Amino acid sequence: MKKIVLRDDEMPKVWYNVAPDIPGGLLPPLDPQTLKPISPEKLGAIFPQGLLEQEMSTERFIPIPEEVQEIYRIWRPSPLVRANKLEEALGVKAKIYFKNESVSPVGSHKPNSAVAQAWFNKREGVKRLTTETGAGQWGSALCFATSKFGMQCKVYMVRVSYDQKPYRKFMMQTYGGQVVASPSMDTKVGRDILARTPDTPGSLGMAVSEALEEALDREDTNYALGSVLNHVALHQTIIGLEAKKQMELAGDFPDVIIGCCGGGSNFAGLACPFVPDYLEGKKIRFLGCEPASCPSLTNGKLAYDAGDVAMLTPLLYMYTLGHTFVPPGFHAGGLRYHGMAPVISALTREGIVEPVALQQLECFEAGLLFARTEGIIPAPESTHAIRGAIIEALRDPKEPKTILFNLSGTGVIDLPSYDKYLQGELQDYEYPQEDIAKSLASLPKIP
Ligand SMILES: Cc1ncc(COP(=O)(O)O)c(C=O)c1O
Repeated sequence: MKKIVLRDDEMPKVWYNVAPDIPGGLLPPLDPQTLKPISPEKLGAIFPQGLLEQEMSTERFIPIPEEVQEIYRIWRPSPLVRANKLEEALGVKAKIYFKNESVSPVGSHKPNSAVAQAWFNKREGVKRLTTETGAGQWGSALCFATSKFGMQCKVYMVRVSYDQKPYRKFMMQTYGGQVVASPSMDTKVGRDILARTPDTPGSLGMAVSEALEEALDREDTNYALGSVLNHVALHQTIIGLEAKKQMELAGDFPDVIIGCCGGGSNFAGLACPFVPDYLEGKKIRFLGCEPASCPSLTNGKLAYDAGDVAMLTPLLYMYTLGHTFVPPGFHAGGLRYHGMAPVISALTREGIVEPVALQQLECFEAGLLFARTEGIIPAPESTHAIRGAIIEALRDPKEPKTILFNLSGTGVIDLPSYDKYLQGELQDYEYPQEDIAKSLASLPKIP
């Protein structure tokens, strides 16, 4: 069977919350001013109650509202696909499956959380959302979601992606969103950064600061984050929950589960629903593939840190390169984030998730092989998962193991990056250790 599909009525009706199952648990978010656990009232200034409850929840399963399910059904359940042509090209015994999240209206997994976040905001009377976007995938997803609920959306798009990826900007505008390049002159944070570093390529950390500042300043506006937070990882678990049912239909079970890691949400979405199986003794390896040029899991520190440059967000306990870290303008824009989701950080701390750092050239090479065998042009971010899967399959070509990876998005809008790769204009990049040390020195000192 090439493709395993579920019927609409087989789509999961609950999300899975991994928090209560993480050995050693999660540490609470801290208030950046008092350095004490942050109060729900303070978080309530930017997030609706429904999402805050999910953020702190200790329930294993959380119902997906019917209105969210209805919009999910535009593209969900997404197919699970056997990459048999890729297997043949590699000459391996491994069975490789991928969950195809590139089939959503905006071409990535991001609407799984965007639709949920827009709905919970709308339910509490919020009419307008601000957010940040790297590659433009999250921004497009939120503009899609807000358009479904008659809400407004303003997106701060990281400068380098704004210049490299104009089609995402057009997509956001098509859905009715407003898009500005970050850092911008629209916020105090943005003006300060531009005064200091007018040529900065921007970073997700800067864009988060701008979007947050505006949400804090305006009564009618809330903020939405596209990754990292527990509730975002939660919404993405529909990926893994569907994949579990589909693997069962295929009569198979994964030995290795792989995802690319920016803030950790698509990987968490695929991997977390399999964590209870691991804890019950099933032998599963979970591989989180990150770029060597922004290596929070493999080269960062597990510590409390802010999610943004201006330290407006709560402090999260996560693997981080420091909130002042500005990654180079490499081509997987959605992986340019200094911190990793607390749930993925905790699973890494426990040795359940194995982090892997990959260079962009080997990832583009994997993306090309995938396009030429399976026919789908993957997002540059997703090529990290594909490279991870190829490495695993080739480790012992005769071993008949089962590999499952997340194809988090399409690369059809990222063709200029492929062009640069094909023209030989891309280089590998390892972040200098002393620069990482410098940004790690900016970590808040927790007494
Ligand atoms: C296609 C795609 N994959 C992966 C990511 C990384 O985000 P996360 O690690 O939260 O899934 C992004 C982020 O924009 C993306 O657009």
